[in-house]
Amino acid sequence: MKNNRPSTGGAQDLFYSNSDEFPRPTIVRGEGVFLWDDEGNSYLDAASGPVTCNIGHSNKNVINAMTKQAEKLCFSFASTARNQPNLQLSKQITELAGEGFERALFVSGGSLAVDMAIKFCRQYRYAKGETKRNKLISCQPSYHGMTLGCLAVGGDSSFNDVFSDMITISSKIKSMMHYRFADGMSEDDHALHCAQGLEAKIIELGDESVLAFIVEPVGGSSSGAISPPEIYFKEVRRICDKYGVFLIYDEVMSGAGRTGTFLTHHQWSDAQPDIVVLAKGLGSGYTPLGAMLTSASLVDELAELTGFNYAHTYNANPLACAVGSAVLSEITDNNLLENTLKMGEYLRGKLELIQHESLTIGDVRGKGLLLAIEFVACKLSKAQIPLNYQATENFKQFAAKQGILIYGRRSNEGRYGEYVMVAPPLNITKEEVDLLIVRLSSAVNDFENWLKKERVL
Ligand SMILES: Cc1ncc(COP(=O)(O)O)c(C=O)c1O
Repeated sequence: MKNNRPSTGGAQDLFYSNSDEFPRPTIVRGEGVFLWDDEGNSYLDAASGPVTCNIGHSNKNVINAMTKQAEKLCFSFASTARNQPNLQLSKQITELAGEGFERALFVSGGSLAVDMAIKFCRQYRYAKGETKRNKLISCQPSYHGMTLGCLAVGGDSSFNDVFSDMITISSKIKSMMHYRFADGMSEDDHALHCAQGLEAKIIELGDESVLAFIVEPVGGSSSGAISPPEIYFKEVRRICDKYGVFLIYDEVMSGAGRTGTFLTHHQWSDAQPDIVVLAKGLGSGYTPLGAMLTSASLVDELAELTGFNYAHTYNANPLACAVGSAVLSEITDNNLLENTLKMGEYLRGKLELIQHESLTIGDVRGKGLLLAIEFVACKLSKAQIPLNYQATENFKQFAAKQGILIYGRRSNEGRYGEYVMVAPPLNITKEEVDLLIVRLSSAVNDFENWLKKERVL
């Protein structure tokens, strides 16, 4: 098939996607919040990769735990035998998660964890004889991963459309995006309005047919860290209870301390989900690891009926669990939740100062160290930068030239805005935040000078 891509020059690792039109450095080394490429350039990892490397790079304790476990046992199959690292990690994570999350099952990433949560809900209802409950509700925009099951619930047409006649796409309600879509409502009124969309959707679908509602407590790159207030989640909880619908929080990105508490809902009262899924920060980039947490009562009930019929080769892998365990110890032993709250507030304040002086940063939002900035062509009208200028991708290039790697991608063809995530490792220091801000501010200047030259500003 004809295309205009440059030749791969024999580079077998290149699978082109749009982002490959922009050069990417080849990273060879990392330490703390810094990364180095093969030409000796250093970068501050301003978004922990895709909001993953929560404890920073080359952590000695995690590497030691990994090496020790690798020397003892790398693999055993969870369906045939139990293993100690799995027991240890389950104990640690359920203690951190608290009441209502007494059981943990580990897989090798976020998409599998989401997929597993959906399967758990369905198998539970099926075993209880409620076989008609098969419909899922999720938010538009949203992101829940890349398996076909995840794409079915995800709210990003740039990923879903091509598969939409192969899978049953979930019903969508509007995400709460106050900056752009509030229609003059206060934040709380807008939150309630969006949450009540769930009740209307359940009634429209027929309440006896709805299985679960899945939502990110704080959004990722599909929405630029939208962070609905507590009132939203309380209302969602009330509605799910009323209609017997499972509530799943997708904390793949926001969990494991990223927002300042181990799980985001620890910051709210009465808005606890039935199931929570985590990944990214749990393995912190040291190992592929995802988890689903739920209550002992749900797991035991299903066990008595049919059991949970679910197995992957790498479920509860001992090496991955030992690494996860060491990552959680780093979080607790070094008070990283406290640091996240402190540095999150400090970073946010500094971002707001850049916003104040910039022409293109329309909004700064998020929670803890899960923050994002949204780009606009006009702060007053909130008009977007014309899409052909590829604001997100170009900003990332300017940022890399100033020595920061930042994460973002245009979701839904830019229909909901363009944003990048600012989410450095949770152990970032104040001095490192200051450096991040100096570099980010220079990148914003370069970006705006380019847009002025192009007569966009
Ligand atoms: C909220 C959310 N859910 C699920 C996923 C999928 O996780 P993974 O890429 O580990 O499969 C992601 C990844 O970005 C995510 O942000």
